[in-house]
Amino acid sequence: MTNQKRVCIILGTRPEAIKLAPVIQVFQNSPDFDLQVILTGQHREMVEQVMQLFNLKADHNLEIMQPQQSLSDITCRSLRGLEALFHEKKPDLVIVQGDTTTAFGATLAAFYQKIPVGHVEAGLRTDDLFNPFPEEANRRLISQLIQLHFAPTTLAVENLQRSGVLGEIHLTGNTVIDALLNVAATQPACDVPGLNWDSNRTLLATVHRRENWGEPLQAIAQGFLQILDKFSDTALLLPLHRNPTVREPLQALLGNHPRIFLTEPLDYAELVGAIGRSHFLLTDSGGLQEEAPSLGKPVLVLRDTTERPEAVTAGTAKLVGTTSENIVAAATELLSNPKAYEAMANAINPFGDGHAAEHILQIVKNYLQVS
Ligand code: UD1
Repeated sequence: MTNQKRVCIILGTRPEAIKLAPVIQVFQNSPDFDLQVILTGQHREMVEQVMQLFNLKADHNLEIMQPQQSLSDITCRSLRGLEALFHEKKPDLVIVQGDTTTAFGATLAAFYQKIPVGHVEAGLRTDDLFNPFPEEANRRLISQLIQLHFAPTTLAVENLQRSGVLGEIHLTGNTVIDALLNVAATQPACDVPGLNWDSNRTLLATVHRRENWGEPLQAIAQGFLQILDKFSDTALLLPLHRNPTVREPLQALLGNHPRIFLTEPLDYAELVGAIGRSHFLLTDSGGLQEEAPSLGKPVLVLRDTTERPEAVTAGTAKLVGTTSENIVAAATELLSNPKAYEAMANAINPFGDGHAAEHILQIVKNYLQVS
C-alpha cells in the first residue's frame, strides 16, 4: 500500500515492552500503517522475555545498554541513535510510553526533527520532582513536547489540563490492562523450585527504584525478614531486578532464608501467574500497582509517593513508605486481620477497560487522517 502512514514505536525497558505490546499488535494488524518497532536497548534480557511472550519482532535495536549506565549515558546514546534512524525512516508519528529515559530521549529526538509524538500513559504525576527520580521529570518534559496525550484515567486527564500542555488530550485507559487480561486468560503457571503455593501464604515482592537504592533497600529487606519471623506460615517470592546495585544487597541480606525465594526476573506470564497465587504484594513498581488490583490482590507500596493514587483511593493499595516498622505494621494488619484483608482484596479496574490499544489506534487514524 503506497499511502500507508509510517509509525515508529520506541521502547527500551521491560514495562514499556509490556505496555506497548498491545499497541504494537493493533498497529501491525492495521493495513493503514507501516509500523517500525525500535528498541533503544536500555534493557536487554528483561525486554527480550517480553518480546518473545507477545511474539513481537524489533525492526531496529540501538543496543545502548552498558553495566552501571548513567542517566546521561542512556539519554545521549538514545538521542544520537534515534536522530539517525528518524532521519532515515521519516516517520509520520513516533509513539513512546511512560516515563523512562528511553521515552524522554525518543521524544526529544522526534521533537528536534519536528515529528509528532504520541505518549502512551500520559499525565501521571506525583508533583514531587525527585520522587520517583528521574521519572517524574521525564514525564513532565515529555508532555510539553508532544501532540497526542493518551491518558489512562480521568485523573491523568486533569493532571495534563492543570499542566497547561499543548496537544490533544484523550482518555484511553491504560494498555497494561489490555496486556494483563490477555495473559491472565491463558491461566499462566508460576513454578518456583521449592516454593509450595498451597502450604504457605506467599507474599510477592519487587524492589528496584533509584530512590530506594542504599539505606531504604536495607530497611525494606529487614522489614521482609521481620514479617517472615513473625508469621511462620508465610513465604516471600522476590524476583530480582538485573541491576547489580539492587540485586547484590538483596542477595546478601535475604539469600539464606529457607522461606525466601530469590529468582531471576519472572517472565510476564509467570509474573501474572504469581500475582494470582500470592496473598498480597509489597512493591515499589508502578505496573504492579495497576495489575494487582485487577486480580483482586492488596498492594503495599514501598514508596512515599505514588503517581497512581486511583488504587489507593479505591482501597486496594496502601502507601507504606520504606521504613521497616511501617512495612511490618502494614503487613501484620493484612496477615492477622481477615476483615482488613478482605477490605483491600477487591478486584477493581480503575486503570482501563482492556481496550486502550484500540482507542489509541483510532485516535492516531483521526490525527493522521487515514480512512
Ligand atoms: C529503568 C527505568 C525505570 C523502570 C525500570 C524497569 C529509567 C531512568 N528508569 O530503570 O523507570 O521502572 O527500568 O525495570 O529509565 N540490566 C541488565 N539487563 C537488563 C536490564 C537491566 O543487566 O535487561 C542492568 C544493567 O546493569 C543496567 C542496570 O540494570 O545498567 C540499570 O538499568 P537502567 O535501565 O539504567 O535502570 P532501571 O533501574 O532498570
